[in-house]
Amino acid sequence: MKTDFKSVQVEVKDGVAVFTMNNPPVNQLSDHFIRALAEAFAEAYKDDAVKAIVLTGTGKNFIAGADITQVKDVTDRNFILERVKTNNRFLSGIETGSKPVVAAINGNCLGGGLEIAMCCHYRVAVPGIDLGQPEVQIGLIPGAGGTQRLPRLIGLNNALEMITTGRPIKTDKAFSRGLVDEIAEPDKLIPTAIHAARKFVMRFLNIKQRTTRAIFDRMPSAAEKKSVLSLVKAMTAAQSKGYIAPLKAVEAVERGLGYDIDADLDIEAELFADCVVSDVAKNLINIFLNTRSAGRLPRIEGLAPARIKKVGMLGGGVMGSGIVNLLLNNGFEAVLWDINDQAVEKGVGAVRKTFGYAIKKKKMKEADLDQLIQKKLVTTTKLDAMKDVDLVIEAVVENMNVKQEIWKQLEGICRGNVIFGTNTSALPITEMATVLKDPGRMIGLHFFNPAERMQLLEIICAGKTSDQTLASSVAFARAIKKTPIVVNDGPGFYVSRQLGGLFGASVYLSADGVDAAAIEKAMLDFGMPMGPATLSDLTGIDIGYHVGKTFEKRLGPRYKMHPLAERVYQTGCYGRKTGAGYFDYSGPKPVPNPKVVAVVEQYRKENNVQPKQMSGQEIIDTMLALGINEGALIMQEGICDRPQDMDLAMIYGTGFPPYRGGIFRYADKWGLKNVYAKLVELEKKYGPRFAPADLLKEMAQSGKTFYAG
Ligand code: NAI
Repeated sequence: MKTDFKSVQVEVKDGVAVFTMNNPPVNQLSDHFIRALAEAFAEAYKDDAVKAIVLTGTGKNFIAGADITQVKDVTDRNFILERVKTNNRFLSGIETGSKPVVAAINGNCLGGGLEIAMCCHYRVAVPGIDLGQPEVQIGLIPGAGGTQRLPRLIGLNNALEMITTGRPIKTDKAFSRGLVDEIAEPDKLIPTAIHAARKFVMRFLNIKQRTTRAIFDRMPSAAEKKSVLSLVKAMTAAQSKGYIAPLKAVEAVERGLGYDIDADLDIEAELFADCVVSDVAKNLINIFLNTRSAGRLPRIEGLAPARIKKVGMLGGGVMGSGIVNLLLNNGFEAVLWDINDQAVEKGVGAVRKTFGYAIKKKKMKEADLDQLIQKKLVTTTKLDAMKDVDLVIEAVVENMNVKQEIWKQLEGICRGNVIFGTNTSALPITEMATVLKDPGRMIGLHFFNPAERMQLLEIICAGKTSDQTLASSVAFARAIKKTPIVVNDGPGFYVSRQLGGLFGASVYLSADGVDAAAIEKAMLDFGMPMGPATLSDLTGIDIGYHVGKTFEKRLGPRYKMHPLAERVYQTGCYGRKTGAGYFDYSGPKPVPNPKVVAVVEQYRKENNVQPKQMSGQEIIDTMLALGINEGALIMQEGICDRPQDMDLAMIYGTGFPPYRGGIFRYADKWGLKNVYAKLVELEKKYGPRFAPADLLKEMAQSGKTFYAG
């Protein structure tokens, strides 16, 4: 047979044809690749010299899923349905084919990759790789037999867990569950797979018995299926608010797993096609793709990032300790500085705590942590210790003078090309950098709390930040596995200001007679992880108040604080840290704080406002209109100009529901004309805070959208 099929190379040895798949970058299933594979299989079936086939990948991947750029823009359900059915015929052809196929799983085996592997008659895998059906994470379900073959191989419960969460399992678990038949070290993988292939040829293994569709011993009885599925359905419905794919996956299992797998595959294909054309999938796919391209700005194209190995961390408090965790976890050396020995000791204790979860989950041993700290972490109270670091991150108290004093000293200590990154949450970085001779080296590296867990790193370019500083900072963000979103300096940068805009209408609604609990519920139903009152209590009403005052001062009259917000602040109830804020936390469950309730009632009485019933949708419209307007104002002021990045920042930084795609995606869907009309109405009712941004007005009038297409 031919040996070169472009993305599939074939070598035939002693009757076994080894197919090596190579479709860079991650061996994803794309049209041309599937055609090459199909062609290679067709030839192998025809060639009498080939008795068995071994299928393997290249590099780190066996097959890491389908090429989702090919489904992202599909709106024609029939088109995708036909493609899926054609694909299924090909895969079923491997499964029921006349020659044994052994999967030699050399690397990650995900989505369509696992579905192909499950059509093979035997699976050998190297240790430590991921095997899974992650489709639900991008709003899809397995569309090439995953919902039908996985339960046959590993049982219903295990399969449902993998399919509905999208979480992969490692080789050892896959082996113990029966998804993998043998484990082999990488250098033994192909010989082991060839050995297995020969066993088929010599009839020690029986191809019919090892055909996945013919395996029924792990299939549930009808009663078992019914009881498991009713439980899983209830759990999935509760957890998947707004996401449709997990429920569609359960439906595929429920309606499938019968004796006619081809009919069941057709049902799966229909449900897959439903998902592909849904808004949710489009949103999630775009988030996935945009996450990959976040931080790839024209401004830094072609610039080589600085090599960063050793990082100085100033302050081991809440934020500093989380950042040290990231440094140690990602192979950096860290030098932790704090004001005195006590603070340093406290800092190291806090760093240890950040590893608590990994230790509890047995992903790390206490002894490994001791060793990591001993080897990679140096502590100090002397700024001189920063003389040989490649980057300094500062997370000391939020005080301009304190921060500037430290930077001034460091400029005399560190090498000239070392980046100075500040984690300030609200101080103007352009002003902070004025103490430096070279302000080009300063940048904002705004981590979110808890730093070791939150995926976002908001990178803030101050007025004079150099392109080189930015390029190195973006690369550093990737090295610590964060999604970098680059914005310009301005009050609240992007995320805090945008969140302020998104939740900012709540005080107007409350003053207008709308029950605070109804506002909380509407935002939770919309998909936010918490409502505005709960968030204020968590972050501190006093902090919010001071931020509000800064906005009022720096951004002008539109941001004048609402008189009701002033009164709530005057109660002295600042949230959880004082035991009560909007809610009282002294009992077993938070209840509305009578002091705040009294203030709101008094305000309404003075202004002749009666309690008002407002629908959840009306609350959402009001909140979102202001949020979208804030985003437009931020764009118009030049803080950032990439809606795709801004949407990611809200998703990763505040938990904005991913299935809604982000604020700008939501705005486009709602229609900018409608958003504009709503704002005009709200401005009349509530005043200038709601006045439509010029940019939004112009876009609404000319029929533009934030996203192209
Ligand atoms: P923290 O109070 O937990 O830690 C402050 C650190 O500063 C401690 O290590 C302390 O020893 C040190 N420190 C105290 N007085 C000092 C002085 N006079 N000179 C130098 N260092 C001094 O504070 P946290 O929460 O870690 O905040 C640190 C920075 O990160 C602040 O700029 C804050 O605005 C910012 N930030 C905080 C977030 C949060 O959620 N806590 C989120 C994002 C940024």
